[in-house]
Amino acid sequence: MEIKKVGVVGCGAMGGGIAQLCAQSGYQVVVSEINDDFLKKGLASIDKVLARSVEKGKLAQADKDATVGRIKGTTSTRDFADCDLVIEAAIENLELKKKIFAELDGICPPHAILATNTSCLSIIDMAMATKRPDKVLGLHFFNPAPVMKLLEMVKTIATSDETVKLSQKFGESLGKTTVIAQDAPGFIVNRLWIPFLLHSIRLYEEGVASREDIDNAIMLGLNYPMGPLTLSDMVGIDVVKFVSDALYEQLKDPRYVVPTLVDKMVAAGWLGRKTGKGFYDYK
Ligand code: CAA
Repeated sequence: MEIKKVGVVGCGAMGGGIAQLCAQSGYQVVVSEINDDFLKKGLASIDKVLARSVEKGKLAQADKDATVGRIKGTTSTRDFADCDLVIEAAIENLELKKKIFAELDGICPPHAILATNTSCLSIIDMAMATKRPDKVLGLHFFNPAPVMKLLEMVKTIATSDETVKLSQKFGESLGKTTVIAQDAPGFIVNRLWIPFLLHSIRLYEEGVASREDIDNAIMLGLNYPMGPLTLSDMVGIDVVKFVSDALYEQLKDPRYVVPTLVDKMVAAGWLGRKTGKGFYDYK
């Protein structure tokens, strides 16, 4: 089986980035949203990122046009009917994702692989909502998806070797380095990253250092591209909380308990860049 057409469920920060990446890599892409407003916003974000690359002289206008031309936006799941691979990047809600997988299973051709971009939910639960659990796996991209070099592949106990092989080839065609993890809480990256992130936030909460000094210490002392507080603002404080809570729920390990400050920030709507305020101000 050759992957030619890719479906992406969700055109938010992750889904939009994945759709852009696939189209830039030459795939025909169908990307869906729950309504016209969200779809318009998602497609406009992709256009803006590509336009910036043209302005910087890093992308030819003709290549931008060709990329945009390969992306079809839709609000109907029926448009996934001829996709060889569908990547679900909807909000992190297991019941919703199970519903999406059941629906995709009924619409997509029998050979199609169904993947989820979840960062912390149980993938076998999504696989069992379909009649093709051998063709279900996790394809976990990192934000911003067109830029980050890693694709974390997650196989459940039911994923076939053939599905892993095809997906790995697909990941490499996007220019990613792939790693393979089992369907265990947080896979590799979030299992290791979340305790570090929460520990950085605790240090700030305790007044051990300022937000700038914590970020600079990690950026310059460990050569990270962003400090943990800046990165939390980019990912979203609500996302940090959701992933941490989900991992704590599954692991019962106190290293995944969010600091009180995270709960307070979520309650205040200080969700990071997207709301104009998180650990830093963006207004
Ligand atoms: N979409 C597409 N491209 C983007 C982008 C976006 N949202 N943001 C930045 N870029 C591109 C820029 O256009 C630029 O491309 P060119 O080199 O072709 O010009 C390139 O990325 C670098 O951007 P900048 O020069 O503006 O800034 P930078 O050098 O500081 O890089 C960064 C920005 C790539 C985000 C970098 O700071 C970085 O790697 N930060 C860490 C990101 C990270 O750790 N992500 C993982 C988050 S965790 C996650 O996603 C998983 C989860 O489960 C929660």
